[in-house]
Parts: sequence; structure tokens; C-alpha cells
Amino acid sequence: MSAQLIDGKAFAANLREKVGEHAATFAEKAGRKAGLAVVLVGEDPASDVYVRSKGKATVAANMESFEHRLAADTTEDVLIALVEQLNDDPAVDGILVQLPLPGDLDEQAVIAAIDPGKDVDGFHVESAGRLMVGQEGFVPCTPLGCMMMLRDRLGDLSGMNAVVIGRSNIVGKPMAQLLLDANATVTIAHSRTADLPEVVRRADIVVAAVGRPEMVKADWLKPGATVIDVGINRLDPAEGEAKGRLVGDVDFEAAKEVAGAITPVPGGVGPMTIAVLLRNTLVAAYRHEG
Ligand code: GUN
Repeated sequence: MSAQLIDGKAFAANLREKVGEHAATFAEKAGRKAGLAVVLVGEDPASDVYVRSKGKATVAANMESFEHRLAADTTEDVLIALVEQLNDDPAVDGILVQLPLPGDLDEQAVIAAIDPGKDVDGFHVESAGRLMVGQEGFVPCTPLGCMMMLRDRLGDLSGMNAVVIGRSNIVGKPMAQLLLDANATVTIAHSRTADLPEVVRRADIVVAAVGRPEMVKADWLKPGATVIDVGINRLDPAEGEAKGRLVGDVDFEAAKEVAGAITPVPGGVGPMTIAVLLRNTLVAAYRHEG
């Protein structure tokens, strides 16, 4: 049996289009476009690619993009002063500081400076707390995108067994909370979990977010399980992998013979992150206009 492919690229394109339509309506009503400010410190090439594509997608969705590029040796005070300036700028609805930050910059201190009402990444402790207690707030883009695809595929998740592999603040923990809110029975597994294959075998839903290439094997999966692969790992060309091939955390070729549905890498979860970021920015803009 071959699994149904969950086409994140098409799903994201659809969401971006819908957000773009709503953003145009917002601009007409508010007399201004919704605005997203992205701050990039340093010259990490991967971050540069992300920031450019976020800027392009923002403009394509009828929103204003403000890009701030700072030198790698920027001090924390200067960076926080910029964040505070953006907090006070009425043209800016969402603020995203691209991570990782270079050098000794304290990511938590910088994120804490963002106005929670503009925290479209959902990384602020207030956003994390709101998610935890079920209050309205911003939810991190990647897990929210995964949730949208799961709901689209499975409908009601009540009573399903979900295993999230990975416990990061950005993906694993918020993902588990969203699944719990949807009445799934949730296990968070990680590098110290005993007998991980056995834990995964109980899951109707597997979300892999560990950052280890092709770690989740086909024989770990319950037949028919829905598999969401958050991993984006570039294999080392020096180890004979052609052009540093991109793979997920799941051994896709084998897993698709066992799973009921699965996201590919690339073209699965990845494209959803920016689409949800645009959605969060539009939600922020509507909240700011009351
Ligand atoms: N770096 C890689 N992905 C992200 C993201 O979604 N948000 C931020 N702020 N930094 C990132």
C-alpha cells in the first residue's frame, strides 16, 4: 500500500491566496496595508534565503514588508532598541526576529522585548503561556501549519493517539499542546525516551521534529498512521550524497509504504510555515484595528 501524499506546497499556496484576499479587504477598510517587520542580524546564508522569501511572500499577499538587516556584531542594546521602535510603529503589525542570532546575543532577551500583540512567531513567553492555558494568542507557525494539515486530512482528532518526537519550544511543545486541545491523547518523545520504536508504533498520528535525518523507520509505524515530517536535514555531500540532498526526520521511501498519509520533504511542512506567518500577521493587523 502506498500512502496518500499530504501536499504542503499546494496547501500553503491555497492559504497564502486566501490570506492575500483578506489582506486586500483589510487594506481597503483600514486605509493601510497590514505590515510585517523582519529583522535579520548577520549574514547567515540560510537565514538570508528565509528572510528574502518571507519578504516576497508578504508583498505577494498584499501586505507591507519591512526588512531590517543589522551587522553580525550588533549589540543586544541596539537590537532591543530596534525591536522597541517596531513595537511603537503603527505601520508594523507583526515582528519577526530571525533565529538563530549570531554570537552572544541572548535570544530570550530579544524575544522578550517584542510586544506580545505583535509576536507573530508565537515565541514570546506570554504567547507560550496563553497557548498553555487556552487563551487567545499567537501560536508558532510550524506547529499551527501541521495542525491545519492534520485537521484537513483527519477531521476530528478526538481520542486518537498522537506521538510528537521532539520537545523544542518552537515545534515539539506547542505541537503537543495543540494536539491535546484537539482531544488527542498525546505523548512527547525525545532523545531519552525508552524504546522509541514501540512508542511510535502506538500512534495514529506521528509528528517528527527531532532534526535527525531519516531517523523514523517504516517498521516503527502503525499501518495507516498519518505522518507529519517537520525535519529538514541536508545530507553531507562529502559523504557521497548527491548535492547534499534534503531529507526529513522520517525514512520517507520506506515509510510511505506503511503510512496512511505522509508529508514529503521538501514540499510538506516547510511551505506552510511562511503561509501561517502571513495568516498570523493579518490576525495581528485586525486586532490592532480593533
Ligand atoms: N529561523 C528558522 N525558522 C524560523 C522561524 O519560523 N522564525 C524565526 N524567528 N526564526 C526562524
